[in-house]
Amino acid sequence: MIKNSLVIMQTLLGFLMTLLSNGEDEVITAVKVGVRAGYRHLDCAAIYRNERAVGHAIKELIVQDTIKREDLFVTSKLWNTCHRPDLVRSSLKKSLYDLGLTYLDLYLIHWPIGLQEGGEFLPKDEDGTVLFSDVDFVETWKALEDCVDEGLVKDIGLSNFNSQQVSRILDIARIRPSNIQIEIHLHFANSKLIQFCQEKGISVTAYSPLGSPGNKTVPFVHSLQEPLVQEIAQKKGKLPSQIILRFLVQRNLCVIPKSVTPTRVTENFQIFDFELDSEEVKQLETLNKNHRLNLETHSMKHQYYPFNIEY
Ligand SMILES: NC(=O)c1ccc[n+]([C@@H]2O[C@H](COP(=O)([O-])OP(=O)(O)OC[C@H]3O[C@@H](n4cnc5c(N)ncnc54)[C@H](OP(=O)(O)O)[C@@H]3O)[C@@H](O)[C@H]2O)c1
Repeated sequence: MIKNSLVIMQTLLGFLMTLLSNGEDEVITAVKVGVRAGYRHLDCAAIYRNERAVGHAIKELIVQDTIKREDLFVTSKLWNTCHRPDLVRSSLKKSLYDLGLTYLDLYLIHWPIGLQEGGEFLPKDEDGTVLFSDVDFVETWKALEDCVDEGLVKDIGLSNFNSQQVSRILDIARIRPSNIQIEIHLHFANSKLIQFCQEKGISVTAYSPLGSPGNKTVPFVHSLQEPLVQEIAQKKGKLPSQIILRFLVQRNLCVIPKSVTPTRVTENFQIFDFELDSEEVKQLETLNKNHRLNLETHSMKHQYYPFNIEY
């Protein structure tokens, strides 16, 4: 089960739709640099379309004796077009095949929103409207539990679920969710959902932990440029990214900073040699603006759209 002191090695999201040959090389390099720097958790997903590249890197690292399979913690996520119970096992098997593994450590339902099965990752009609599936994620969960029984995955969990949706899973779960992956960064504290999940014994992973620095839709200064972050970084002799990641780890969260830049991959791991004091934590908490970046706007009308309630 994931514990909060892990820093998670995140792989690609942004340019996966057009994964080029040098894109795969970039992923392979990032994973190898990350594991050599100390990361042990690789966070993957079918939708990122890079599991083959991640698997390639894992294989090389094992062959070179840098790491053993059992030292890694590999997560993947079930995509929205595969919520129907009969598709769950084959989706997991496909991820395992691409990763070159016999089991995953953690498998998450990526979103509570089901999309029309088969075909494209984002199925649309001729007008460009995204096509929904009405599969209830509770049925998806039961199929995930069967995969645990079969030894294909050790732990199962959720991503982008709200508190009511988590409760529905807890009400029927034979195997409880061990982890939830949700958006959390300086400008989106998400405190109520974190508290709700942690009180239920579900560990929490923060995605977009640096506030997606490349995201141009943010209407205010990006997290890394926040004057307070820069001031604390200067005082501590650390980088702004390290201050933000440390702040999240001190909130008992797993963090999955994404980078394909070797120097950043290494820097983002160097957060265990210092601490933020309570005053610094309090100051950083004031930067919260409840600003969510990942709205999944194309599915706002879905019956299971998770962000219509406060948390
Ligand atoms: N579960 C979900 O539904 C969900 C949704 C969104 C995201 N996620 C996951 O969370 C991961 C991270 O989210 P994200 O990519 O949105 O945001 P992020 O990790 O907050 O930011 C990633 C961006 O920051 C840059 N970066 C990384 N380290 C840096 C550093 N030390 N200094 C300056 N810039 C740095 C990266 O650039 P370079 O790569 O060019 O270095 C990249 O552009 C994603 O890869 C994705 O897998 C999950």
